[in-house]
Amino acid sequence: MKNIYITTAIPYVNGNPHLGHAMDYILADVLRRYMMMQGNNVRLQAGTDEHGSKIFKKAADNNMPVKEYVDQNSQKFQDFIHSLGVDYTDFVRTTDADHERRCQQIWEKLSNHIYKSKYEGWYCEGCEGFITDKEYEENEGVCPDHKKPYVKLSEENYYLRISDFKDRIREAIESDEMKITPVFRKKEFLNLLKDMPDVSISRPKESVAWGVPVPGDDSQVMYVWIDALSNYITILGYPEKDISDFWPANTQIVGKDILRFHAGIWPAMLLGLGLPLPKNLLAHGFITVNGEKMSKSIGNVIDPVEILGKHGLVPFRYYFLRHASTTDDADFTWEKYEAAYNELANDLGNLVQRLATLAKKNEIAGQQGELKDLPEFDERMQKYEFNFAFEILWKQIMDLNKRIDEEKPWALAKTDPDKAKAVLVALTKDLLDINQRLVIFIPDTATRIDEIFTAAQIVPPETPLFPKA
Ligand code: MSP
Repeated sequence: MKNIYITTAIPYVNGNPHLGHAMDYILADVLRRYMMMQGNNVRLQAGTDEHGSKIFKKAADNNMPVKEYVDQNSQKFQDFIHSLGVDYTDFVRTTDADHERRCQQIWEKLSNHIYKSKYEGWYCEGCEGFITDKEYEENEGVCPDHKKPYVKLSEENYYLRISDFKDRIREAIESDEMKITPVFRKKEFLNLLKDMPDVSISRPKESVAWGVPVPGDDSQVMYVWIDALSNYITILGYPEKDISDFWPANTQIVGKDILRFHAGIWPAMLLGLGLPLPKNLLAHGFITVNGEKMSKSIGNVIDPVEILGKHGLVPFRYYFLRHASTTDDADFTWEKYEAAYNELANDLGNLVQRLATLAKKNEIAGQQGELKDLPEFDERMQKYEFNFAFEILWKQIMDLNKRIDEEKPWALAKTDPDKAKAVLVALTKDLLDINQRLVIFIPDTATRIDEIFTAAQIVPPETPLFPKA
């Protein structure tokens, strides 16, 4: 049994969980279930990113003390993750006292690679980020996301000297010591790495009050990266505890927009701390709606709770795990969602109903499934092509449907009852074999299938698994 550590990005708590956030969790859950099935001891982290002036302002807009606001929103994320059928083993909040203390210790350990410098240039108050002269010119002085003019800023910040580690990071990525999936994003990042500047890791207290104080400098608080990225190891106890049982992480899952921080700044921090790099970084794509980026200004934001409310969790996981690519952008439309639901009902729901009805008529006792070798499935899973792995199982389900049609056990029952029974036992066993892996993707359905087809006597469910509206 191996120890495996899987991590997910920690979302900002300046609003409710949205559809895009679901991707990190369901992908991590699939990987966790797969690795558990192989007998590993898996730890899955999740958490919330709770500092920064945006969150501070949002709390004020809501007339709430900021701590109360982040407590409430962090809880919403925890409930959301559970509603996706995902069990994490560790939940980290960046406002946890343990995290804050450890994060300050990490800062101190990195002090050889941290220097203070004055930033003078353009700044976007909406992005809370520095803007290069080139970006300023390209966007004609106005932030395209926030529609706000950039402002001139002159302030003192601490910087992390990324340049100390660039060569080592490049080598680790090129050799797949820290493997980035998909490969096109690895290439994209290696191009970026060349010009990656040192990164600002603090802000003056007067501009960002809600943050972890910089040790030894009352005038500054940490800004984003040291505080947020360190969550992956502070939750394991670093630096107060030995984390070598679970670190390096096997897989860190992030969205494509934050891959560069995880492939650049994070490894720089780890190298500065003398810690090994994660073995894999998996970058997933974005969920779009009707082909467009979800955005409040377009007004096309879909609440995941609405989707979950429509047909429950199974179709949600089915849609985003079978019909969305693990690594490319994936589109959601209600029409496609309904079509996917019908597929579930026709391909799997009907199979269960038909087979259980025939089994009951022919008095077939429950059977046991077996986890048979399926190398092409493992290959897809190891390459993080979860949708293709799921596809292999779906093909097996379709094959079972075909076999029922061809072998016609209902006709056989009249002419050769023993043969009919043998056919039904074989079909039941095969369904239970598929079910051993179906549990990775749609665990609730797999549990139902197990209950029905391993019972002393097989009986069809009173309501079909996926009732038609
Ligand atoms: N707080 C940072 C992450 C720090 S990790 C040390 C952050 N938060 S976020 O709330 O903006 O995003 C959280 C996760 O959701 C990221 O992995 C991000 O890529 C993902 N997504 C946000 N919008 C998304 C979609 N529309 N589609 C898929 N994933 C998306 O970044």
